[in-house]
Amino acid sequence: MDFFKQDLINWLNEKDPAKIQELYRSAYAMKVKHVGKVVYFRGIIELSNICTKNCYYCGIRKGNENIERFQMTDEEVLESAKQAFDMGYGSIVLQSGERSDPKFVDWIEGLILKIKAMSNGKLGLTLSLGEQSKDTYQRWFKAGAHRYLLRIETSSPDLYKKLHPEDHSFEGRINCLKILRELGYQVGTGVMIGLPYQTVEHLAEDIIFFKSMDVDMIGMGPYIAHHDTPLAKEISNRLDNFELGLKMIALTRLYLEDVNIASTTALQAIKSDGREQGLLAGANIIMPNITHTKYRRFYQLYDDKPCLDENAEVCRGCLEKRISAIGEKIGYGKWGDSKSFENRTK
Ligand code: 5AD
Ligand code: SF4
Ligand code: FES
Repeated sequence: MDFFKQDLINWLNEKDPAKIQELYRSAYAMKVKHVGKVVYFRGIIELSNICTKNCYYCGIRKGNENIERFQMTDEEVLESAKQAFDMGYGSIVLQSGERSDPKFVDWIEGLILKIKAMSNGKLGLTLSLGEQSKDTYQRWFKAGAHRYLLRIETSSPDLYKKLHPEDHSFEGRINCLKILRELGYQVGTGVMIGLPYQTVEHLAEDIIFFKSMDVDMIGMGPYIAHHDTPLAKEISNRLDNFELGLKMIALTRLYLEDVNIASTTALQAIKSDGREQGLLAGANIIMPNITHTKYRRFYQLYDDKPCLDENAEVCRGCLEKRISAIGEKIGYGKWGDSKSFENRTK
């Protein structure tokens, strides 16, 4: 489908509920055409909330002194990974606050090797560990990670500056995305939607950015204020952000067609059926939380994070019901690589 920036902006501004539903329906049809009525799971393990950065929007930023910091033990990580593997999840994501000290880099490398060994190389492994050096990315790739998620957060350098302290670099982040791609990772990026100071023009440009970077995966969700952050004093309307979030999924599906798009937990934080709505607007990936329940409340990037008291089993049961209720099935035991990646590497 041929879209121009102005079409994207018009859709993002659209208020007529019937037209908006029509948009979701055509995006859903596009998803079914490329990936079928299948949802792939990536179990996410939140390894640690220790972070050296200070993003103005994030609840685990270094400057937040009101949270207890934790780091999981190797045994705990392995236990969660094994549980995901046994439940038939084709792949997992390791995420944590950003650190790049040698001890951290070694720790992650060791975990990757152990998880690969535990699953005979069968469990797919995605990393979401922020900006790192080329050497580090290479070591982790060699150890067995094959996908990397690094959201650009916004494709506008000006807006990026308003959301981050001086020592955070937009160009550095773009460079990381390029390096990851060169090294052979499947690369995912994404943005937050409904940020203070963000306009629909910014969002339209984000979608054009995804296309220009030719990424394989998109993970994006509504911005939700966290009470202990500097950005929380700026006004932002959750319900507006929710609708914009669904429109962004739909437009990204129509514009990029065959990429993997996540229906993110932030949608669920605003509406209990938010992820199902995301799937019906064109997303095809869900990232069930498999972090040990005792740590979940310490890893809150935004307020009202769901599933704080549930465990991995409960979340799986919940998701199975929700997904079959909308007539989709779960792609158990599969890595579920994006079609764009398969086509690119054919
Ligand atoms: N609201 C929504 N998403 C957030 N993230 C961080 N803070 C927030 C927030 N307040 C997202 C960022 C980051 C990802 C791990 O979580 O996009 O890349
Ligand atoms: Fe750290 Fe990531 Fe939160 Fe920024 S968004 S403060 S890098 S965990
Ligand atoms: Fe965790 Fe529904 S996904 S309880």
